[in-house]
Amino acid sequence: MQIAPSVLAADLGDLRGALDLCARGDADLIHVDVMDGHFVPNLSFGPPVIEGIDRHTEQPLDIHLMVERPEELMDKYLAFNPHWVSVHFEATTHLDRLINLIKDSGVGAGVALNPATPIEVLSDILGTLDFVLIMSVNPGFAGQPFVRYSLDKVRRLKRLIEERGLHTKIEIDGGVAGRNLEEVRDSGVDVAVVGSGIFGVEDPLAELRDLRARAGDQS
Ligand code: DX5
Ligand code: ZN
Repeated sequence: MQIAPSVLAADLGDLRGALDLCARGDADLIHVDVMDGHFVPNLSFGPPVIEGIDRHTEQPLDIHLMVERPEELMDKYLAFNPHWVSVHFEATTHLDRLINLIKDSGVGAGVALNPATPIEVLSDILGTLDFVLIMSVNPGFAGQPFVRYSLDKVRRLKRLIEERGLHTKIEIDGGVAGRNLEEVRDSGVDVAVVGSGIFGVEDPLAELRDLRARAGDQS
């Protein structure tokens, strides 16, 4: 399993410091949370800040769009040539069109699901997705408690992917930390996003290294 630190949980007055830490700890991806104050009740950052992040990291970006109408600024996000971009199932009407747009630009395309959205809504589109992001908190804030039934969703999704012989990856986001890392990994997750579980602890660099070592590399 890979580890994607969420810089939303870092000291945003020192983003470069957070990115340096991710580089030294060999983070697999940098998870970037975009919020619009409509889809989620919070604002974070958008293209101008991601441009700064992109300039100061060598690590691949994983852009998580928690916005309504994600198609509107999609060209700007794709221009960073991120590794992955995810859009919420709940936030857009023409999901198939948007996924094709992302994939046509050579970027990995994913769909994020809120905790209450069942994985079965992706049944038809699953084969075209590079990954599915299972939210294990209600999106909008770092530092919330892990929603336990999301692990059942991961297991069901993993089964579906295997039954169909697909290569779709599973990412989980929210409330993941040292205390639940093993059960998250064992449920079938390929990439775990970790925010306050890294940036909210006493020694974030040691924690990132420890999480990576414990996560193993199964993906
Ligand atoms: C929540 C964001 C998450 C968040 C994770 O809306 O999508 O990426 O930053 O933070 P933790 O790991 O603290 O729950
Ligand atoms: Zn996120």
